[in-house]
Amino acid sequence: MKAIRFHEYGDPTVLRHEDVDQPVPGTGQVLIRVAATSFNGVDGNIRAGFMQGPIPVALPHIPGIDVSGTIAALGDEVTGLAVGDRVVGFLPMTGDGAAAEYVVAPAGILAPAPTGIDLVDAAALPTVGLTAWQALFDHAKLTGGQRVLINGAGGAVGGYAVQLAKSAGAHVIATTSARTADRAKAAGADEVITDAQESDAKEREAIDHTGVDPVDVVVNLAPIDPARLAALLDVIRPGGVLVNTTVWMPAPSDEPRGVRGIDLFVRSDAGQLAHLTGLVDSGALRVEVAQRVPLAELPSVHAQAAAGTLPGKTVIVV
Ligand SMILES: NC(=O)c1ccc[n+]([C@@H]2O[C@H](COP(=O)([O-])OP(=O)(O)OC[C@H]3O[C@@H](n4cnc5c(N)ncnc54)[C@H](OP(=O)(O)O)[C@@H]3O)[C@@H](O)[C@H]2O)c1
Repeated sequence: MKAIRFHEYGDPTVLRHEDVDQPVPGTGQVLIRVAATSFNGVDGNIRAGFMQGPIPVALPHIPGIDVSGTIAALGDEVTGLAVGDRVVGFLPMTGDGAAAEYVVAPAGILAPAPTGIDLVDAAALPTVGLTAWQALFDHAKLTGGQRVLINGAGGAVGGYAVQLAKSAGAHVIATTSARTADRAKAAGADEVITDAQESDAKEREAIDHTGVDPVDVVVNLAPIDPARLAALLDVIRPGGVLVNTTVWMPAPSDEPRGVRGIDLFVRSDAGQLAHLTGLVDSGALRVEVAQRVPLAELPSVHAQAAAGTLPGKTVIVV
């Protein structure tokens, strides 16, 4: 089968489009004929070798932690799934990924693909959708009537976080760059705080939260510096929560005021993913895809991401 692999860590030029053996599902696993995977920031970090501690992969490695596709074969002891089922999943990050014609996945992580959108576009959902869900509901225990500030809301996780928080009945304040303010508004944010101009990271650090009335929850999705992250504690009411996804800097806490900082590490959860695909099918959750790119061009997607020029959530069509 065709796959993209890297044989050594490095810049996007280490990614090769090549022929590899088709994997065989083991006990409890299924073989998926891949419709699409999607690009996530962590893919670039794994390829660059920055994640060898927390996410050790064997080389050569096939990237792509999201998958949408059709079950092509079942391993032993798989129940509840059948050949031909259309599924989505957030794959184990240490195994081979879905930038390939076929991938093997544990049966227990898969959810039915949404039926109301293209199977290809469904690859945009698993990792970032689960991240948004787990930030808001597993970690922050967000409930209706609470106030939540989503910092970096114009990105992929942010789009889902705004929609999900709004559906839960929360008051949603989003911070974005000028480039993505409309995206956060369309996702349903009650307030959008944005830079006046499309600007570089330095100016974006200047987003000012001091005028924001206290919130119960802050979800940080932006690669801001640790001092700015700590400053976000000031807008959280006593007893509130800061959930941080940019885990290379630990989430700060404010113990005297009972404000807890939580580092989020997304985990696969088939039940939560099935809930999210159900929301997509009921029209309660919109999947946004900025571009669809053929598998052979995955290296250029990694290069765009490294250059900071990705236009938004990118699905890789196999
Ligand atoms: N820990 C985990 O398990 C986990 C899981 C998933 C994701 N993540 C991390 O969570 C973050 C969000 O993921 P994503 O897929 O949504 O990424 P994304 O689509 O690239 O979104 C990142 C967001 O950060 C904003 N941003 C970038 N630089 C900024 C700055 N200097 N100041 C303010 N905002 C800035 C971007 O704004 P604009 O788009 O408006 O320019 C964008 O909204 C990423 O860092 C990702 O690596 C972690």
